[in-house]
Amino acid sequence: MTSLYEVIPDAPGEGVPTRRVTITVNGEKKTLDIEPRLLLAHLIRQGLQLTGTHVGCDTTGCGACTVLINGRPAKSCTVLAVQADGREVETVEGLASAQQLDPIQEGFKEEHGLQCGFCTPGMMLAAKALLQRNPNPTEDDVRWALSGNICRCTGYQNIVKAVLWAADKMREQ
Ligand code: FES
Ligand code: FES
Repeated sequence: MTSLYEVIPDAPGEGVPTRRVTITVNGEKKTLDIEPRLLLAHLIRQGLQLTGTHVGCDTTGCGACTVLINGRPAKSCTVLAVQADGREVETVEGLASAQQLDPIQEGFKEEHGLQCGFCTPGMMLAAKALLQRNPNPTEDDVRWALSGNICRCTGYQNIVKAVLWAADKMREQ
């Protein structure tokens, strides 16, 4: 068991209540004592040092912080970490294995689906949720699934192509 405040310098003051949670992150079970007000995005980035999850707006607007909770996309900037207790969370770090990129990552590489890359982790996880429930999406399906994610570089065309590329690859496998 780890106390989150061993790794976050801004520890709660004396007497501030904490709650023990157990969350499986990228397949690894973590038991942590956290303040009930802690956001899931902050737990992931600061507590667990998984900085692939980005925070762009902090208000559910941009989707940069998207992770999967029990396989469904969620904007982690507006989810309390305690709400993930007992659940499985997947971040972008969970996509690739040590040997191989996930087909979604390959698709972004092949179709040049990123420019600055800030939106990319959230886009990839939204895409993963789509392809898990619909392995043969249309272009409209992809656009709808990614409609909660903003790309400030406006590279939407190639992002859509990247997801369709990944869908083809996954069907071939
Ligand atoms: S940072 Fe969460 S939606 Fe923008
Ligand atoms: S690639 Fe820059 S925000 Fe999407």
